[in-house]
Amino acid sequence: MKKYSLLAPGPTPIPPEVLQALARPIIHHRTPLYEEILQEVREGLKYLFQTKNEVLIFASSGTGAMEGAVANTLCAGDKAVVVEGGKFGERFTQICRAYGVHPLAIPVEWGRAVDPGLIAGALKEDPTVKAVFIQATETSTGVLHPVREIAAIVSRHPGTILVVDGISHLGAVELPMDEWKLDLVLCGSQKALMLPPGLAFAALSDKAWQFVERSTLPRFYFDFKKELRNLTQNQSAYTPAISLVVGLAESLRLIRKEGLENIFARHARLAKATRAAMTALGLQLFAPRASSDAVTAVLAPPGIDGQKVVKILREKHNLTIAGGQDRAKGKIFRLAHMGYIDPSDIIAGIAAVELTLRELGYRFEMGAGVKAAMEVLI
Ligand SMILES: Cc1ncc(COP(=O)(O)O)c(C=O)c1O
Repeated sequence: MKKYSLLAPGPTPIPPEVLQALARPIIHHRTPLYEEILQEVREGLKYLFQTKNEVLIFASSGTGAMEGAVANTLCAGDKAVVVEGGKFGERFTQICRAYGVHPLAIPVEWGRAVDPGLIAGALKEDPTVKAVFIQATETSTGVLHPVREIAAIVSRHPGTILVVDGISHLGAVELPMDEWKLDLVLCGSQKALMLPPGLAFAALSDKAWQFVERSTLPRFYFDFKKELRNLTQNQSAYTPAISLVVGLAESLRLIRKEGLENIFARHARLAKATRAAMTALGLQLFAPRASSDAVTAVLAPPGIDGQKVVKILREKHNLTIAGGQDRAKGKIFRLAHMGYIDPSDIIAGIAAVELTLRELGYRFEMGAGVKAAMEVLI
């Protein structure tokens, strides 16, 4: 028998209530029934994003919303500051280049959070910068960036918007859009929203909507204005991912039932337990000073390939976690605790990591990680 489990930073496990909703017979989207569901989803998304504005929904992976954020707010030749502290920061640079926007990269050592002073400095040096792009959680490194402090800086610049990629963050860790004055917040379905991949989200502040008015970059499917017009009629411009939207209605119900504050507290506890376990095993955290509560990146022990840890976990213990990407490949492994995850998942995951490390010849006291996690979770 193979019983699979997932502690990856997307896709993540899906609650049975959501699976059942996903399996319902398909309905047509140009019907009152679908419109009723979308009406409920719109309200649920505003709760999740903590915004009064609409949250746009696209049938794509999260990268579609990243591309849409660039294409709908900027013009060719505009300059944008991009925080580059991992793979997803680099993606914003690539998208900017593809659209003729000049990225001014702020390189950040992988595993570290950006210093907000660097962003203040960049905006002071060049006040023509139109946007700042950042990840709330940089999934490739497990880093939590200081978005609140950065928003306080950017909001003082009327000609600049702050675009926050919350794809692996929203619904796991606090990110109150309106309160913190974030201009564009992005999300994807396959992370803390407890859904399969296939939906991307973008919410815009009033300031960001003004940028949409002046933007002249080409766009077609990811046309924010067109989608907003349709959404306010409980519709979408094109055929929506109907079953995913039906599943989303259910996952948003679960999110409301648990409540954002409780959800954030659960993620914080699970993350703390994971970090305590890894430390008790004598391992080093990759982002010890700025760890996100959504995903924990751990340095593989000296002489042990992080990719092997991932492989053995998958093949022998039926547990899928994530390895390192690009320059962190082989050096780290990443345990996610986002979405539909509870203490038993974490304890079982840590036990499997211990068995795997033992098999790879790493010496430690068996059970030390599980014990440390349990002491946090008790
Ligand atoms: C922070 C972050 N940004 C962007 C993406 C890209 O999303 P997708 O793979 O859904 O296009 C991911 C996905 O892993 C992510 O974690």
